[in-house]
Amino acid sequence: MNTERIVCLSQKEIEKMRHAGQIAAQLLEYLEPMVKPGVSTLELNDAAEAWTQARGARSAPLGYHGFPKSICTSINEVVCHGIPKATEILQDGDIINIDVTPIVDGFHGDTSRTFFVGTPSPLAKKLVEVTEECMMRGIKAVKPGGKVGDIGAAIQEYAEAQGFSVVRDFVGHGVGRTFHTAPQIPHYGIQGKGKKLRPGMVFTIEPMINEGTYEVEVMPDKWTALTKDRKLSAQFEHTIVVTRDGVDILTLHPSLVAV
Ligand code: MF3
Ligand code: CO
Ligand code: CO
Repeated sequence: MNTERIVCLSQKEIEKMRHAGQIAAQLLEYLEPMVKPGVSTLELNDAAEAWTQARGARSAPLGYHGFPKSICTSINEVVCHGIPKATEILQDGDIINIDVTPIVDGFHGDTSRTFFVGTPSPLAKKLVEVTEECMMRGIKAVKPGGKVGDIGAAIQEYAEAQGFSVVRDFVGHGVGRTFHTAPQIPHYGIQGKGKKLRPGMVFTIEPMINEGTYEVEVMPDKWTALTKDRKLSAQFEHTIVVTRDGVDILTLHPSLVAV
């Protein structure tokens, strides 16, 4: 049983989360043009680490429960937690999720996107587009007084209607001064079920959507999660806050934030 308390952040803490979130979004924006055939995932990692340090921030993944690198890079059949490597070279047609979490002034900004390397197959393109839409539908399902299950129900309904499956073994999570805390946010479920959403709750919505089975396998490195059938998997992630009248995305790039 998960008895960890769900904390609601103060307005001041939420603004610090927004700052961390914007740094995280800027880091993805900085990495995006490097995503090209011939680049290694270690090069992406090292660029991310240098960029993060230059902003006086820290990479939360580095050393987290022994994770060896600063970002996660998950290619094609890798569902999540791929470890950057010098020997892993991006190829035309790959899809790659880059997941970053800088800690800025004590707060974690957690966001990821799946990028195309060169030209994607029609199927890869559809999977990635559906996955981003799943994340957005999950976000739009958030409102104060609603339930955690509303989020997963919205995601699962759309993913399965498009012929894809929703990963069960990894979920969204509360985030703030702590990287992973209560509540857990499954990306599948039943509308009206689960914990009540309250203003000030901050958590991630990060659906992993698979081409084939939702089942995953973790490699002997204890991190890299693969689809059991080795078909494709995609993921998008935002950190959000429940507001008094709906939801606010904290990991939007500053250029996209409405004023
Ligand atoms: N950023 C991932 C998430 O969205 C967590 C990565 S944990 C690590 O929750 F140790 F693999 F970095
Ligand atoms: Co993440
Ligand atoms: Co996360």
